[in-house]
Amino acid sequence: MTPTACTINVTVNGHPHVAEVEPRRLLVDFLREDLGLAGTHIGCEHGVCGTCTVLLNGASIRSCITFAVQADGAEISTVEGLARGGEMHPLQDEFSEKQGLQCGYCTPGMLMRACEILAENPDPTPAEVRSAIASNLCRCTGYQFITEAVIGAAARMRATKEVAS
Ligand code: FES
Ligand code: FES
Repeated sequence: MTPTACTINVTVNGHPHVAEVEPRRLLVDFLREDLGLAGTHIGCEHGVCGTCTVLLNGASIRSCITFAVQADGAEISTVEGLARGGEMHPLQDEFSEKQGLQCGYCTPGMLMRACEILAENPDPTPAEVRSAIASNLCRCTGYQFITEAVIGAAARMRATKEVAS
């Protein structure tokens, strides 16, 4: 441990980690390089594009402008945590089926933002989805298919909930 390193405790996709990090270590670098979770992408590195979006205690944040030490004690969700038991998350299925991605660079951040959108509103309108995903830039899809994928995932998730209840 270097003299300036700090100890942090974080839970990432349900797994607890204790780590030593420099105070200026960015959360995105901690996730990608220290934990090997390279699914979170780096784009602008200025908090603009949203491709580095992860959930911190359920809220979407830009991991390129967040220090790892700021996540101490928090629960972090990344794209690697979406699939469960070999089954893709409904959002992943819908993005695949509705062609909500092309190059895929924005996709991890878009998926995590979409998780937050559906947690806040399980039955959004297309206009509400469009407005909510405006925080994340996509250079390929034109957003139409992404919007359709989020609406489709919302319907699947509501149906699953109804069956379960
Ligand atoms: S890489 Fe973080 S917002 Fe663009
Ligand atoms: S799919 Fe290429 S940037 Fe969104």
